[in-house]
Amino acid sequence: MHSQDNFFSQLSGNPPENIPEEIKEQLKGFQDIYITYQSAIKEIGTKIEILNDEFQAKQKRNPIEHIKSRVKSTKSIVKKLQRKGLPVTLDSARENLTDIAGIRIICSFIDDIYIIADLLSGQDDIVLVEKIDYIQKPKPSGYRSLHLILQVPVFFSDHTEHVKVEVQIRTIAMDFWASLEHKLHYKGSENVPDSISEELRECADIIAETDRKMQNIHNRLEEIN
Ligand code: GTP
Ligand code: MG
Repeated sequence: MHSQDNFFSQLSGNPPENIPEEIKEQLKGFQDIYITYQSAIKEIGTKIEILNDEFQAKQKRNPIEHIKSRVKSTKSIVKKLQRKGLPVTLDSARENLTDIAGIRIICSFIDDIYIIADLLSGQDDIVLVEKIDYIQKPKPSGYRSLHLILQVPVFFSDHTEHVKVEVQIRTIAMDFWASLEHKLHYKGSENVPDSISEELRECADIIAETDRKMQNIHNRLEEIN
């Protein structure tokens, strides 16, 4: 788990990149929404830290291995809007994209994924907008994770914004798999032999089985102590 300092310092490491003039023109004011989404990540990040600390105090263990977060770059926002045939404007991005702010929570055990998800989405100031369980229903690729879209209020000096954040919660093993599988998407499907996708799918199933076994062993050890 990151210390508070590390966690927050990594948030500032992702300013909008160098982007073409015409796109800059279309997305004037992006800096303003960047602060909004970064603040929403901080709000949820703090909630996650508090839950982890409470677990540590009461149960003497950390359910969360680590957290990663990012604000989507201007370039990726524009690309995604174009890919979806949506207007390339700030309002359109705010309305249509739910993953401008993204947090990934990595847990050791499957049960902790659901505990964290319920504790977060049950908080008074959080609205659960959407929950997709790719653990119960893995993607055809073999991808597994629990996805939440949470809406959190961010309080500024003169107004409040209700900001959506995509939270992906997965085990260390699922995360390991997803980072390797992610590389496929950059190679172009024509360059990747089918056998690689098939082997990756097999690995995903083996990992799922291992995650279940690890959970079971963990439960039995908890009973002994
Ligand atoms: P996007 O346009 O990618 O946001 O898809 P979506 O809006 O239909 O959402 P979806 O739940 O499919 O995916 C959201 C995010 O989950 C992606 O941006 C990835 O980070 C992750 N993801 C989904 N499917 C896969 C997959 O097959 N492999 C990997 N490595 N990551 C995935
Ligand atoms: Mg998405």
